[in-house]
Amino acid sequence: PKEIFIPELLAKMTLEEKIGQLNLPTSGDITTGQANSSNIAKKIEEGKVGGLFNIKSVQKIKEVQKIAVEKSRLKIPLIFGMDVIHGYETVFPIPLGLSCSWDMPLIQQTARIAANEATADGINWTFSPMVDLSRDPRWGRVSEGSGEDTFLGSEIAKAMVNGYQNNNLKANNSMLACVKHFALYGAPEGGRDYNTVDMSHIRMYNEYFPPYKAAIDAGVGSVMASFNEVDGIPATGNKWLMTDVLRNQWKFGGFVVTDYTGISEMTDHGMGDLQNSSSLALKAGIDMDMVSEGFLSTLKKSYEEGKISMTDIDKAVTRILEAKYDLGLFENPYKNCDIELAKKVIFSKESRDFARKVAAESMVLLKNDNNILPLKKSGTIALFGPLFDNKANMPGTWSVAANFDKPITILEGLKSTVGNSVNILSARGCNFLSTAAEEKININPHNPKSYVRDNRTDEELIAEALEVAKKSDVLVAVLGEGAEMSGECSSRTSIELPIVQKRLLNELLKTGKPVVLVLFTGRPLVLVEESQKVSTILNVWFPGSEAGLAISDVLFGDVNPSGKLTATWPRNVGQIPIYYNHKNTGRPLANTEGKFEKFRSNYLDVRNEPLYPFGFGLSYTSFAYSNLTASSSQIKANEKLIVSVDVTNTGNFDGKEVVQLYIRDLVGSVTRPVKELKGFKKIFLKKGEKQTVVFELSIEDLKFYNADLKHAAEAGEFEVFVGTNSDTTDKIKFNLVD
Ligand code: IFM
Repeated sequence: PKEIFIPELLAKMTLEEKIGQLNLPTSGDITTGQANSSNIAKKIEEGKVGGLFNIKSVQKIKEVQKIAVEKSRLKIPLIFGMDVIHGYETVFPIPLGLSCSWDMPLIQQTARIAANEATADGINWTFSPMVDLSRDPRWGRVSEGSGEDTFLGSEIAKAMVNGYQNNNLKANNSMLACVKHFALYGAPEGGRDYNTVDMSHIRMYNEYFPPYKAAIDAGVGSVMASFNEVDGIPATGNKWLMTDVLRNQWKFGGFVVTDYTGISEMTDHGMGDLQNSSSLALKAGIDMDMVSEGFLSTLKKSYEEGKISMTDIDKAVTRILEAKYDLGLFENPYKNCDIELAKKVIFSKESRDFARKVAAESMVLLKNDNNILPLKKSGTIALFGPLFDNKANMPGTWSVAANFDKPITILEGLKSTVGNSVNILSARGCNFLSTAAEEKININPHNPKSYVRDNRTDEELIAEALEVAKKSDVLVAVLGEGAEMSGECSSRTSIELPIVQKRLLNELLKTGKPVVLVLFTGRPLVLVEESQKVSTILNVWFPGSEAGLAISDVLFGDVNPSGKLTATWPRNVGQIPIYYNHKNTGRPLANTEGKFEKFRSNYLDVRNEPLYPFGFGLSYTSFAYSNLTASSSQIKANEKLIVSVDVTNTGNFDGKEVVQLYIRDLVGSVTRPVKELKGFKKIFLKKGEKQTVVFELSIEDLKFYNADLKHAAEAGEFEVFVGTNSDTTDKIKFNLVD
């Protein structure tokens, strides 16, 4: 058993071998940070490597594992990590898109398929889920999280961990998950990646911490530290965070890895040299050093100087060895390294069919004023924009295992689905960014194929587009962000469509023909101008491998869109941070029409409400809500409140609706948000059909962290809102009584 095996192994290890287990160099195969590791094979042989990450293929993994288990003295297997974020070779929508499905079994299944594929390629550890809550669309990594909500983010964290780990780490197709980035990485000042975070503890506990905790409660095997500081101490060296909160309060028993060069970056944070930073990190509770090699090069010295103890080192080594043991690597270090299996499982028809379905579920219909959608499967349709036929953009950010020649573009998708009945024309119309230097977006692509430019001038491109438009019945403009305009180190201070794309859209609108905007983005955008001018907007995020097919499914009504936004879309950048579950303040507005009120909390130049609220998304059909009722007007702590509502499909299509329940705690010992999501149900209704949707609220749903950071509910009055998005006003009240 583990309890005997690990201590026995530990007893045989030299100090150098112990420190070696804490070292995680990058394979250099896939670049996800600035520094690189060297002499890896030699270090593995010398027992100086605990694992490797972002190495791809059974062949390569087998080769390095062979060195570890045949040539190193103690033959301890390596663990192989990778950023398997939203799928492996079969790519699902970016996580922000995925979250808009509000479909937990579906999300869990994407993680399951990702684990099936990645483990078939020899990977046993993924750096996912990323659960950093964010309310700042300037921050490029909003694309990689689940949006702004604590409750939904926690549900998704759980689903992802369960999908990857499948409650049985030993199984060949289970992958150790790593919840990241602990903590608060999604709240950098100004939305600038890696920037300072400063937050009250009450906000951490009530709003930002729960998704990490949900992953831990679901049994996640590892945690990644974030780059940012927390309370003035870099998370990587923050003992309060890594030990007091994570281990003592939350009882986390797995191991903690730094982010890429997290330890050496502590020097730039101002925490001293590599030796000091390394010993601080170890003592804070970090177990594995990604890329810095600070542990490898300085821990021995720190031990000899009495700055760290053998117990500090043994604790970390034990956790790494335990994870390897739990994964079954000591029994079979080549677990799943079988080329035939990889061929069969990876990018299979089955996985791709599922990816198509998921992509369609993640799309959000933002506008459909004239019912242009769904399109008829006849006539002539023209596609425009830099994204309609570019494979490399379809997967979006963090698709490190993807083969960028394989995704299906929109042009291909339309041709293969409706190509026999619809005449499909196309013209690029514009590049992502203008040829003139009017837009200063420094894209330094990892994925150069996503930025192929058409070398004609902007004017030539538009002229060609207008010629094509003349021959067409419906104009579909496929515009937005390229894959690397969001993601890591892709913060933006202006989040509007690039000028050159707006110009094309305006020209298309001037033709007077129906225009559909198919929008690619990794973040909420400022879309005010487009929302005023364009009648029809379908936001598709980055849909993944099967993008073109899924977009066709939705455009032509084979799938009725049901995605709902999980992050608020602002009217301008000045409104940021903007989120639905804000506090009331002492001077809330009296009116809801957006009229300015003197000496009240509002702006002179823009109303308070967002352009699109959290939870918003249209359908080709319509839903009516009625009969909101509660089982009682008061409950005691041990009782449940049953809330029910009737939802009727009142339109002309069958469709799905995400029914959302929010509460407001009207009086508290600390101020409470004006609304908080506490439940949701995704239902399917045939046209004309009515369903009673039932929610159960318990004391757990009413609890919050008070000024003493105690998690407790307080007696008093609550409001319950149920509806189609967070703006809903249908409400009932009840009391929690002692
Ligand atoms: O997992 C990632 C992390 O999210 C950002 N820095 C690099 C890591 C490893 O690739």
